[in-house]
Amino acid sequence: MEKFNLNHVYESQQFDSDLLDRVFNVADEMKKDLSAEPRRYSQALKDKIMASLFYEPSTRTRFSFESAMARLGGSILTTENAKEFSSAAKGETLYDSTRVMCGYADLIVMRHNEPGSAKSAAEASTVPVINAGDGSGQHPTQALLDLYTIRDCFPTIDGLSIAMVGDLKYGRTVRSLSYLLTKYNNITIYFVSPPVCKMDDDLKNYLTTNGVTWEEENSLEKVLPLVDCVYMTRIQKERFHDLEDYKRASGKYILEMEKVKLMKEKSIIMHPLPRVDEIPREVDNDPRAQYFEQAENGIYIRMALLLLLLGNDIKG
Ligand code: CP
Repeated sequence: MEKFNLNHVYESQQFDSDLLDRVFNVADEMKKDLSAEPRRYSQALKDKIMASLFYEPSTRTRFSFESAMARLGGSILTTENAKEFSSAAKGETLYDSTRVMCGYADLIVMRHNEPGSAKSAAEASTVPVINAGDGSGQHPTQALLDLYTIRDCFPTIDGLSIAMVGDLKYGRTVRSLSYLLTKYNNITIYFVSPPVCKMDDDLKNYLTTNGVTWEEENSLEKVLPLVDCVYMTRIQKERFHDLEDYKRASGKYILEMEKVKLMKEKSIIMHPLPRVDEIPREVDNDPRAQYFEQAENGIYIRMALLLLLLGNDIKG
């Protein structure tokens, strides 16, 4: 197999266009394989063990990684809640936990509350570490499945306009996706958020330096007819230090059916999920709603990453 250039996945900036194509091509192969009879990759990782170490709650990321590993024939070590049921509760450092887990597993998937924790764990680790979300830092595998979903819905990613809506301050998925979008041409991003949840300057400066046009806009209604993709996000109550700020931010941007009607016919609605109130269920049956397909794409992307990082035979 041609060598995969990454030992770990901790942030989106690690990916260039060639690596993105490689991951997406393998994900396509995984999607085909899951409906093939017989399956070629059902035992591809049969001697490998993945540890899923989640210090924060998760439905999609944890279960899709575990499902991906199971569908490749590998084994899983997991805990319900690493903050409470691992020795972190006794004061063990992430460094020590990581050093120890390297002896038990061939790959570690980790979600943690501290930005930068996945990179630190990767530096301490002798096996691949995948960042499954590090606080308000990054969520690179979510960004990969987001981009894979966009790639599936449009002939090309070049030239697309995307509205990112909601909690842009604490939302790690919008940060990670923004970094990946710099790998494409003529991208425009509209940031739509309550004033207390604005996108940080570091990311906006990165976009400018890397050729992405961006604008901040208060009015969702104004942006909806202009964009190809609306990426809604939840206001992340758990990350606010001041509950009054949370109250100021929540409920401001809701994509009801009346607003969906303002969107282009061929545009799409995305959301990393979980949602709270920002997309009512009435929108789910609109053909533009892609958030459940987006979540399903997590399986193909995570199967691809596991195969590529664990170095098994794959065309890619
Ligand atoms: N999108 C996402 O990360 O969902 P979970 O928090 O359920 O993993």
